[in-house]
Amino acid sequence: MQCFRLFANVLNVSRGTFNRHIVSLSMLPDTHQMLHKTCRDFAEEELKPIAAEVDKKHLFPKEQVKKMGELGLMGLCVPEKFGGTELDYLAYAVALEEISRGCASAGVIMSVNNSLYSGPIDKFGNDKQKEKYIAPFMSGEKIGCFALSEPGNGSDAGAASTTAKANGNVYTINGTKSWITNGYEAGAIVLFATTDKSKKHKGISAIIVDSPTTGLSLGKKEDKLGIRGSSTCSLIFEDCEVPRENLLGEPGLGFKIAMMTLDAGRIGIAAQALGIAQASLDCAMDYASKRQAFGQSIIKLQTIQQKIADMALKLESSRLLTWRAAQLKDSGKPYTKEAAMAKLSASETATFCAHQCIQILGGMGYVSDMPAERHYRDARITEIYEGTSEIQKLVIAGNLVKEYGLN
Ligand code: CAA
Repeated sequence: MQCFRLFANVLNVSRGTFNRHIVSLSMLPDTHQMLHKTCRDFAEEELKPIAAEVDKKHLFPKEQVKKMGELGLMGLCVPEKFGGTELDYLAYAVALEEISRGCASAGVIMSVNNSLYSGPIDKFGNDKQKEKYIAPFMSGEKIGCFALSEPGNGSDAGAASTTAKANGNVYTINGTKSWITNGYEAGAIVLFATTDKSKKHKGISAIIVDSPTTGLSLGKKEDKLGIRGSSTCSLIFEDCEVPRENLLGEPGLGFKIAMMTLDAGRIGIAAQALGIAQASLDCAMDYASKRQAFGQSIIKLQTIQQKIADMALKLESSRLLTWRAAQLKDSGKPYTKEAAMAKLSASETATFCAHQCIQILGGMGYVSDMPAERHYRDARITEIYEGTSEIQKLVIAGNLVKEYGLN
């Protein structure tokens, strides 16, 4: 909290076009409105200008991530005691949307460090683990990653084949994890591996692994359609020894830790998708107000107005779903279904808005002189990572069946 206040002052919170696009912001507490303003200014000044180059050259935005750390954005919900900002999840959603509006790659880097890496260590780790594996990861100098998926299992997360064999005071890890966001830069990994195969998903454990370390090698950096400023790679473990004290929670608790972490992470990806959708709407509005056709600016044409109305409606509804999921989490209520709804809705909205933005820009939307095509490419992954849209529907339906008492 202190940390955020400090930097809010540094960035002069009274500047800029506060609240211009997000009417529902006025519903939020002052702290959250101030955080929104700080993040919007930062994104306008530091992220938007570099987003195209980061994308084109596949550059990890190192300096900007460090500044995000200085702003307290790399551990927004972590207690101050461990170097975090100690705000709530609603604040995290608000901040992450603004960062992603400026640069979706910076958004996912922030999201993984907050919800997938620090989140489970904060919730399930002991103080020693938190001091070693959270505190140094708050400044933006070091970032973490989360390793669940494998070449042979993505959606079926319980089918993990990576093993961690207890051997004296170490675990010996063998196997390959794939599609790991932040994999190249990560200083540590929250890894899911089977410690007891006979127990299936109940035999999966979560273990913190330093990176680099002996027995761990990185696969090639994936050449992705979008969010190209964040690295994605495989992690290959060959007789990699990790101290047993790095076990997170109890042995066999790994699948639950992964599922609970993903519930929270999905709110983050929803927020990232909102940022991409908002950037698409902003771009479309700006272009449509300047582009002349049929003797007037095209924003006056009903066809264009229908598109922007549809974009705004989907965006605002998804934002409310996202904030609702965050508020449920903050109040300690169940939110698995609501987080899945938020992610499903926001990610499809991001793709829709980016698509409509390109339609409105026409040829200009299809070339990289304008950000529309990047938004379109960045949007697509939000429908895939941290559970595809199809998985979100399974989660929603599964929870409905339970609510109706039909299981
Ligand atoms: N919270 C707590 N526990 C949960 C849970 C939740 N949200 N969801 C399930 N569980 C528990 C169940 O209660 C059950 O517990 P018991 O065994 O004690 O009864 C156990 O987990 C198994 O539950 P299911 O039978 O429902 O599990 P399943 O094998 O059918 O899988 C699934 C359910 C929803 C399909 C799940 O596998 C899933 O979410 N898959 C998608 C995985 C995913 O999102 N991967 C993304 C990778 S991360 C990523 O993208 C990284 C990145 O870098 C950005």
